[in-house]
Amino acid sequence: MHKAGDVVLGGVFEIHFFAVFPDQSFISEPQEPTCHGQAQTMAFAIDEINRNSNLLPNVTLGYSLYDNCVQLGIGFRAALSLASGQEEKVVLDKTCVGTPPILGIVGDSSSTRSIAISTVYGLYRVPLVRAMIQILSHFGWTWTGLLVSDDDYGLHAARTFQSDLVQTGGGCLAYLEVLPWGNDQAELRRIVDVMRKSTARVVIVFAHESHMINLMEEVVRQNVTGLQWIASEAWTSAAVLQTPHLMPYLGGTLGIAIRRGEIPGFRDFLLQIRPDLQHNNSYGNSIVNQFWEDTFQCRFAPPPTGWVEAGGALCTGNEDLENVETEFLDISNLRPEYNVYKAVYALAFALDDMLQCEPGRGPFSGHSCGNLQRLEPWQV
Ligand SMILES: *[C@@H]1O[C@H](CO)[C@@H](O)[C@H](O)[C@H]1NC(C)=O
Ligand SMILES: *[C@@H]1O[C@H](CO)[C@@H](O)[C@H](O)[C@H]1NC(C)=O
Repeated sequence: MHKAGDVVLGGVFEIHFFAVFPDQSFISEPQEPTCHGQAQTMAFAIDEINRNSNLLPNVTLGYSLYDNCVQLGIGFRAALSLASGQEEKVVLDKTCVGTPPILGIVGDSSSTRSIAISTVYGLYRVPLVRAMIQILSHFGWTWTGLLVSDDDYGLHAARTFQSDLVQTGGGCLAYLEVLPWGNDQAELRRIVDVMRKSTARVVIVFAHESHMINLMEEVVRQNVTGLQWIASEAWTSAAVLQTPHLMPYLGGTLGIAIRRGEIPGFRDFLLQIRPDLQHNNSYGNSIVNQFWEDTFQCRFAPPPTGWVEAGGALCTGNEDLENVETEFLDISNLRPEYNVYKAVYALAFALDDMLQCEPGRGPFSGHSCGNLQRLEPWQV
């Protein structure tokens, strides 16, 4: 998704779940892959800022949003394209003003993918770990087990956790185990065996919910009860883990979640989304059109061969979002989306601040100010 502007903000989000986590446990109804609307949150925030005459009054913000398809490589490629300005040429408008600078990039809620991108952009810290250690010290829990996923999210957390625990003198790890990808039964059995035999009653898990589903299957099999679980934000609010079946094991879990927030006007913004009928769907690169086809189970012309013959409907573009069940419009639990919203505002305020700089009193060399025409992302 692209929108022209004097300054363009980049975004890399998960929109398509081509690689839905392969390990489904089949113990409960599988979760539908969904588009969490983070890209739309960014579009909304930018739209709101452009309409706000107090913030960046003479500057139009644009955006350039990419889908990472839940694939590290694709997200990385998007980040590189945004950083180097060598993305596929996007015709911004007819006047051909050239590519404006990408001021900053808002990433998705996945640490693993943000960490990968951050190697292009700069540093990364895991503040979550600090919060966990505070919980441990609050309850005086000094003897704990740590389970992490086998990716940057888990491995970063493990490294930070170990060093912070030593620094704060907050306790010791009874064990540290790396959860396997996929459903490696033998390895999961070994890990749960370690947990069962350990004297540590507190177990902290930094892992995605799909890891937890596999782990819990083995926990249930070995009937390991009486543990105090501490959840990272990746699985704290996972509905698949909040079942009566798992309650004897996971009941009482403490978890850290991304703060929920309200974004007034967001639902109306979403309801105004319309597919682009001019867009040639055969290129298959319009996020909105694909969302539309998916939601209304229709296809834009020209439909795929055999679609109409098989009774498939053609999309008109006038389908009504209000009349369809879609998680897309559910704004009751905006967490990563609220972070995106705040991130866009943080960038806008920083830019606004910079443009109000008084010559001779600026923060750059020789007390100079930044300048919209030669803006560098690091200046913001
Ligand atoms: C599992 O363990 C709990 C507590 O130790 C015990 O009450 C329960 O009977 C066990 N369940 C099974 C199926 O063994
Ligand atoms: C769009 O795609 C159709 C079928 O692939 C093709 O016939 C048509 O010329 C394309 N239109 C444009 C504007 O590219």
